[in-house]
Amino acid sequence: MAAEPSGAAIVAEYRRGVNVALQSLCDGPEIAALGAVGEAIRYSILGEGKRWRPVLLMASHDAAGGDGDVSALAAATEVVHAYSLVHDDLPCMDDDDIRRGRPTTHCVYGVATAAVAGAAMVPLAAAVAANAARALGLPWPVCGAIVRELMRASGAGGMVGGQLLDLRGEGQSPTLAELEVIHRAKTGALIAAAVRIGAMAAGADERRLSALARFGDAVGLAFQIADDILDATGSTGQLGKTAGRDAELGKSTYVAHVGVDGARAHGMRLIDHACDALQQAGVRTPALEYLARSTLTRAS
Ligand code: IPE
Ligand code: IPE
Ligand code: MG
Ligand code: MG
Ligand code: MG
Repeated sequence: MAAEPSGAAIVAEYRRGVNVALQSLCDGPEIAALGAVGEAIRYSILGEGKRWRPVLLMASHDAAGGDGDVSALAAATEVVHAYSLVHDDLPCMDDDDIRRGRPTTHCVYGVATAAVAGAAMVPLAAAVAANAARALGLPWPVCGAIVRELMRASGAGGMVGGQLLDLRGEGQSPTLAELEVIHRAKTGALIAAAVRIGAMAAGADERRLSALARFGDAVGLAFQIADDILDATGSTGQLGKTAGRDAELGKSTYVAHVGVDGARAHGMRLIDHACDALQQAGVRTPALEYLARSTLTRAS
């Protein structure tokens, strides 16, 4: 009997599928019609990212017993994420020159084009999600709920609001509880939404949906804690973005608060909690397990 594929192999396959979906979106007429803004969108989406959010969506969908190929739906979460990176790097935000091992979008296309490209990627992501959900044959109310979930997580109550808190927190000393709010909002919300959307598209029952939601919340926070650790301990070559920016910008991070070891210990507790939530509901899979553990062990 052939051995079951490992979590890493399954995730590599999901990633291939997402990359095909993203390439096809970037080669499509909507983006071509946008001229220089479309070029900037292509550049930001097709950069070499880990595709963590779409891959989590696909793993969650499989874990919840879904059928069919959700790579196009998953791609919508990457469009939101890529937009967030374009804006995060702007001079008025984190002012970064390197992203995914290349010059940032505004360094190549200029600040105005990058700002407009980022803004254009939000409705683009909503349209991609709506079309993909419908193409999967999901009932209209589920399609609507999926798009709402993606936009809710991206908006003022999620990522955008978290980014504002992050900027306001520069040079400040928030409490650990306040820092957790920032991290859950700026990064955790979209990751948690990706996991939830995978479960929604699979038509998961309440027990599985709630277990996957708890998993996504914990992994989402752990992901930003790991990002804080990598910023403090990695090199620019390894990360594909300038290392040590958080200290330079006076950012509020877990490393600044509790040190590298403290941050790692906190992240490990979150990952254990995430895996326990799945085990209790019987939805633990090699892919989700691998993604959970890699959240903290990743090198970039
Ligand atoms: C970086 O995200 C920004 C955060 C929200 C922490 P990723 O670490 O997922 O970046 P890419 O997509 O792999 O470039
Ligand atoms: C980014 O957090 C959160 C986003 C929503 C993009 P960071 O500012 O720490 O991400 P990097 O380190 O620049 O990738
Ligand atoms: Mg930032
Ligand atoms: Mg940044
Ligand atoms: Mg960072």
